[in-house]
Amino acid sequence: MKDKVVVITGAAMGLGFAVAKELASRGSKLVLVDYNEEKLNEANDAILKDFPETKTLLVTADVSSEEAVKAYVDKTVKEFGKIDGFYNNAGIEGKQAPLTEYDVNIFKKVIDINLNGVYYGLRYIIPVMQKQNFGRIVNVASVGGIRGVLNQTPYVASKHAVSGMTKQAALEYGKDGILTNAIAPGAILTPMVAEAFKQVNPEDPAKAEKEYASRNPTRRLGKPEEVAKLVTYLLSEENGYVSGQTIAIDGGESNMYGNA
Ligand SMILES: NC(=O)c1ccc[n+]([C@@H]2O[C@H](COP(=O)([O-])OP(=O)(O)OC[C@H]3O[C@@H](n4cnc5c(N)ncnc54)[C@H](O)[C@@H]3O)[C@@H](O)[C@H]2O)c1
Repeated sequence: MKDKVVVITGAAMGLGFAVAKELASRGSKLVLVDYNEEKLNEANDAILKDFPETKTLLVTADVSSEEAVKAYVDKTVKEFGKIDGFYNNAGIEGKQAPLTEYDVNIFKKVIDINLNGVYYGLRYIIPVMQKQNFGRIVNVASVGGIRGVLNQTPYVASKHAVSGMTKQAALEYGKDGILTNAIAPGAILTPMVAEAFKQVNPEDPAKAEKEYASRNPTRRLGKPEEVAKLVTYLLSEENGYVSGQTIAIDGGESNMYGNA
């Protein structure tokens, strides 16, 4: 991944940050996009502390704004002249509630970020990759993009859509040297998942976490660094022929029926 230019959305925390660190360790040039400016600066400081040679471009942007997405793509091309990899990761969970009780405004917000934001990223980055006749894209779905998850209707709908768009991009742009895949993480311990455990058990989130982990075949949650290794492979030239797939990284949990 040395000298590859990779755009990462949602880079300030969690999986985006873990991927940024992994790629920095391999000498990639990074475009770090997030709407949380303060956390984005902290993430950049942490990366430069460990890997001082890293070239980074920071863009504060909300991926649900088409204009903002177009702007982060233009800035990247201006600064680095190309885009080799795209980790299309920014997403939110929303608030948990059954389908008929779901807050409609939160529903729309989840769709705006998780579906429309991912689409805008593809729409503006793919033409850059087409000109180069090379590109690697990793969209972020979820086990909720393969299965239902109680109380998470817009999240599940948006993540199934991400899986669908992944197939679509792979079909339409494979001829241009662009391979597009999605990952479907299970529960990986990031700030988003910590917040979900707070919603499940506000009095004792640690108990909710322990119960959840006990149902996984591996009896633990995943680590962001483990996800970063898979993403790095899919973004690299080492991956020459995997495209259009949604790859679960969940300790085997999504294959389970009944108790493990
Ligand atoms: N952690 C998990 O277990 C897990 C499981 C399945 C899928 N995912 C998916 O992985 C992705 C990253 O999740 P995470 O756990 O790292 O979450 P996180 O909340 O820890 O980090 C997400 C980052 O994205 C940024 N972000 C959110 N909305 C944005 C927007 N509209 N514009 C720009 N930046 C935005 C946040 O500021 C934050 O820095 C999400 O798409 C999530 O749905 C996570």
